[in-house]
Amino acid sequence: MKNEKLSAILKQALSDIEQANSLEDINAVRNRYFAKKSELASLGSLISSLPDEEKKDFGREMYETKTQIASSLDEKNQKLAALELDKKLQSEAIDITLPGRGANLGARNPFHIIIDEITDIFLGMGYTVADGPEVESDMNNFELLNIPHDHPARDMQDSFYIDENTLLRTHTSAVQAHEMQKYKGQPIRVICPGKTFRRDDDDATHSHQFAQIEGLAIDKNLNIGNLKSTLELFVKKMFGEKREIRLRSSYFPFTEPSVEIDITCANCGGKGCPMCKDTGYIEILGGGMVNPRVLELNGYNPREYSGFAFGVGIERVAILRYGIDDIRKFYQNDVRFLHQFKKR
Ligand code: DAH
Repeated sequence: MKNEKLSAILKQALSDIEQANSLEDINAVRNRYFAKKSELASLGSLISSLPDEEKKDFGREMYETKTQIASSLDEKNQKLAALELDKKLQSEAIDITLPGRGANLGARNPFHIIIDEITDIFLGMGYTVADGPEVESDMNNFELLNIPHDHPARDMQDSFYIDENTLLRTHTSAVQAHEMQKYKGQPIRVICPGKTFRRDDDDATHSHQFAQIEGLAIDKNLNIGNLKSTLELFVKKMFGEKREIRLRSSYFPFTEPSVEIDITCANCGGKGCPMCKDTGYIEILGGGMVNPRVLELNGYNPREYSGFAFGVGIERVAILRYGIDDIRKFYQNDVRFLHQFKKR
């Protein structure tokens, strides 16, 4: 038989729990039914006054009532806690659907775009890319290229000296010595892009810092026809199929014979205009057959091997390609200048 009072308390408790709308309410209900002075507690203390045969049933009913109330309190507590958490999360939610601020992407310096293009062309011809130091010895920069101390060619390449025998390289030709010593008498096909330095008064067409790409090919039986066809291919890929080249004889201590290479003017197509100073041609690089003396100085037997070399001014190529009017712009990092070369 059920104890009526217990049943009534259970019914009331379940309805109280049902109506609780917050964790606070639930705590209040819990206190109401489980506090020391609650109705349930005082009912429990009656057990000692019951006849023995009723004690057991009453004890079990009391236990069941308490567990039922406790478990539905816990259940409701969980539900309300989850609801409250949801509400809190919602109120604190960040609206990530707002439009973001666009990243301000920079643009590559045309200088690097040109280096990549030239490099690609020569990689396609089987060349590898070498790197050399910008701080160079007098030996590599001059002596091993057949430019001894008293040679007048040094006057045109005055540089920044670290000490008497160490300087900022005046041309990428210094890499020739490094490569020849590395390959130790084996065939070479290498290009080397890099910074070069010369003491100069900076203006629109002069800069104390500039860049070149050096090319060096050494093998058995290389002749000036190989130099010409290599550079012709380079020029056509770089400036367009219509461009012609012209070899003009020149002088460099490290090549014999030496040439300067001109391309037909893009502006007038070779007829003559102010851009090419009415010559129809624009000079773009120097080159020649590697001087046998240079081969010898760097450990190659000139009776067995021959080679050709060339040096291209990178800014010069970029200036011609993009019509840039001031060499200093390459180094000022003005984003307005750089943005013109985006996505080329
Ligand atoms: N080093 C020369 C310069 O800076 C350019 C040059 C000319 C490089 C002839 C070469 C070459 O390799 O064969 O003016």
